[in-house]
Amino acid sequence: MCGIFGIVTREVTELGPILVGAGERLSYRGYDTVGAATLPQEGEIDLRKDAGRVDEVAQKYNFAEMTGDRAILQLRWATFGAPSKINSQPHLDSDGDLVGAHNGNVVNNVELRDEFKAEGMVVRSENDGESCVHAVERYVDRGYEMVEAIRMATKDLEGDYSFVIGAVGDDRLYAIKMGSGLVAGITEDMVCIGSDLPSILPLTREIVRLYDGEIISFWAGGYQITSVEDGSVIERDPETVEESMEAAQKGGYPHFMLKEIHEQSHVAEELLDVLDRTPEVDQFIQRLEGARDIYVIACGTSYHAGLLGSIYFNKFAGRAAIPVLAPQFAPQYGNAVGPEDMGVFITQSGETKDVINAVEAARERGMGVLDLVNVVGSTLTLISDLHLPLVCGYEISVPATKTYLNQVLALLYLALRWGGHDTAPLRKIPGLIDLTIEKAEAQIPPLVEKLDGWDDLYSLGYGLTFPVALEGALKFKEITYAHCEGMLSTEFKHGPLSAVYEGYPVIFTAGPEDIPLIVSGINEVTCRGGHAITIGLEDSRLEANAHQTLIIPEPDLPEELVPAAVALLSAVPMQLLSYHCSLARGYDPDFPRNLSKTLTVD
Ligand code: BG6
Repeated sequence: MCGIFGIVTREVTELGPILVGAGERLSYRGYDTVGAATLPQEGEIDLRKDAGRVDEVAQKYNFAEMTGDRAILQLRWATFGAPSKINSQPHLDSDGDLVGAHNGNVVNNVELRDEFKAEGMVVRSENDGESCVHAVERYVDRGYEMVEAIRMATKDLEGDYSFVIGAVGDDRLYAIKMGSGLVAGITEDMVCIGSDLPSILPLTREIVRLYDGEIISFWAGGYQITSVEDGSVIERDPETVEESMEAAQKGGYPHFMLKEIHEQSHVAEELLDVLDRTPEVDQFIQRLEGARDIYVIACGTSYHAGLLGSIYFNKFAGRAAIPVLAPQFAPQYGNAVGPEDMGVFITQSGETKDVINAVEAARERGMGVLDLVNVVGSTLTLISDLHLPLVCGYEISVPATKTYLNQVLALLYLALRWGGHDTAPLRKIPGLIDLTIEKAEAQIPPLVEKLDGWDDLYSLGYGLTFPVALEGALKFKEITYAHCEGMLSTEFKHGPLSAVYEGYPVIFTAGPEDIPLIVSGINEVTCRGGHAITIGLEDSRLEANAHQTLIIPEPDLPEELVPAAVALLSAVPMQLLSYHCSLARGYDPDFPRNLSKTLTVD
């Protein structure tokens, strides 16, 4: 997830401060590289860009002095092409007459770059934003007007994206929405576009909503929307928005956590697009295949994803991967590992010190280091042998949700591919996530009521749902401050069962293959007065034995994939239950006490 901004003003203006302001408001979307360009009526485009944060690059390249009446800004969340000056945006066309920048993923970037080079274009970077510019250049060179050239370009570009582009000597800019965020804003003296509302709100409350398949050409005091499909003009008046900045960043949701829970289907779709195309997947699997032993190393929520991933590896690739909490790696395996072994290091931030320490311990023994990281350009992605992006965009809420689900989906994808299974059925997962959210939200209120006032409970699971029970317990602990312990359901009778008394809540996450085992666990609890809650597929045995059941949708997937998908989806109800219990207790789920999103200390 990146951020773009474009503006056309009536007068020649000091655009620098406006660009920097928009950049700061967009930086939650990514800050690996930053770039800005102003477009003259004649002469050279003033392009300033580099790797780094908005404040650093703006200072280094003196954005403050940038003036003009048309400008573009972009912040990168690196996916295609390392975060470097050459890969930063905006990009020029071959002659420096066009300049443009994008947000999103052009998944056929690699093929397109070869085509553009073959057509004699000057391709300078590996970044897919440049492919958007060359795709327009291709048709401008064939005599098409800008809007038509952009329409034609969409036929060549695959993926979800939006981009803004402009030409020297023109009085307007152009932007297109094809699956990624884009909104326009207007005043007497300017028209601007941005990847999201917060990026333009301080400039105007008169906004023009844009929809996928629309191009907006805009100039000082006016704009025109054109349909990509048939080139027709779409009439749409501006509307006045009332919401506050923070509300806008939350996209209308009361909390970042709920927004990020609802973003899970979209980022899962994006992840599958990238995994289907990126050569790193095969390289990743080759290194796992060639390893003597494999370790899955992480902390917190990422560890729970890794634990589930190790079960997927066993199930679909028939290979053992040893899950270990990062700080425990050196004391538990440090002397046993060597160059023949491979570590899969999983961390959303890529900065968690405990994980970096484990990488150093692995390096000391010559071990291979593979990573699954969300924040590209973070420390781990710079020191690992091979990186797989999680493409979730920025996760603001401290309790990890969308990054966890994409970690699990990436590991399931790897396990299937490694085992020679078809990954195409995973395309159903994004839709199933939305269905699970919808179904869970409808069933959660009586559970919140039940759990109100309980500061001590258990979350149990077995087999594929054991890691899910641990993750559910962590979510509950993180944001309700109740002591919810996650545990293997079969272990419960070996001691902790003593905690149970009349009404004591125990949540069972049940996999379809394990119902009989879960039912006996339920009865060990209920016959001692405990209150059993289950999360799983509709099942009369759970219905008959538990006090409350939360049903997730039946995934219409190949039979052998159903239990794995149920384990993935089952985390969603616990995300939502924790969220609503946190609200019921009057807490802020986004920024819980004592916690931080990324711990860069031991
Ligand atoms: C903690 C966060 O600081 O770090 C957790 O509060 C997170 O939400 C854990 O799961 C691990 O973080 P990461 O970035 O290594 O996945």
